[in-house]
Amino acid sequence: MLTGAAKIAGVMGWPVSHSLSPRLHGYWLREYGIDGAYVPLAVLPEKITEAIRGLPALGFAGANVTIPHKEAAFAAMDETDAAATAMGAVNTIVVRQDGTLFGSNTDGYGFMESIRAELPDWRADQGPVLILGAGGAARGIAVTLLGAGANEIRLANRTQKRADDLADLLGDAATAVTWEDRAGAVDGAALVVNTTSLGMTGKEPLEIDLAGLDGDAIVYDIVYTPLETPLLAAARAKGNTGIDGLGMLLHQARPGFEAWFGIRPQVTAAQRDFVLGAK
Ligand code: ATR
Repeated sequence: MLTGAAKIAGVMGWPVSHSLSPRLHGYWLREYGIDGAYVPLAVLPEKITEAIRGLPALGFAGANVTIPHKEAAFAAMDETDAAATAMGAVNTIVVRQDGTLFGSNTDGYGFMESIRAELPDWRADQGPVLILGAGGAARGIAVTLLGAGANEIRLANRTQKRADDLADLLGDAATAVTWEDRAGAVDGAALVVNTTSLGMTGKEPLEIDLAGLDGDAIVYDIVYTPLETPLLAAARAKGNTGIDGLGMLLHQARPGFEAWFGIRPQVTAAQRDFVLGAK
């Protein structure tokens, strides 16, 4: 039960009804017996700056922002951390004591932590990375991997210009390959990441020939509906490690929860099951 002193946070999105964040934070609040709440906040795109600026007035501890608000949230911050600055996007807002807004981006942290949860000895500099897609998720993951020491990133995207632009932004370690050549770019890659929406329930599968995949390469799919995408199924059938997108969602939530509610929460199998039970 909440008291009048409860700490409040939430997630701003449009739409927000599909978000699993209230459920995953709600699990932790109950697990750790915290006097707090985490609520869905349906905010229209044209109202996002106003809504964010209202957080201190409402006494919110902070908020997450999700699609399509991450870039607008970045622009509305008083200060941002290095990851958010490099990505031009904020997913976690903390209202500071003086009422100013501090924005961070924990998507990349969530991505890397979810790999380490499966493979504790994994390192970003183990070999070339192939990223499929060139949207916000691809940018966040690429920036994070480069910051963690990755030395070669290959980008393949249906719309070539977006891959070229992202490669330019990332610098010398990144090169764009054509969408048609994506199977060739699998050769020698230590990590293959799908950041496109292909493979999601209701969408076509991601077509890619994995014949050239190294035996110890990791295949990561940020899609989590379904958990076992055709891409992951194909990778696992070859004996490779496949990682689904739910771990990224759960791990990216940890720094925000700690900042708002004072406890660094742990991702567990029980939480995973609870969050999945929402669907
Ligand atoms: P996000 O910010 O979440 O990454 P996005 O910017 O909409 O979302 O990017 C979605 C990605 O999925 C893009 O790389 C997109 O390719 P385009 O840049 O060519 O649009 C990719 N994508 C979506 N549908 C696709 C399809 N049918 N075939 C290939 N790629 C697709």
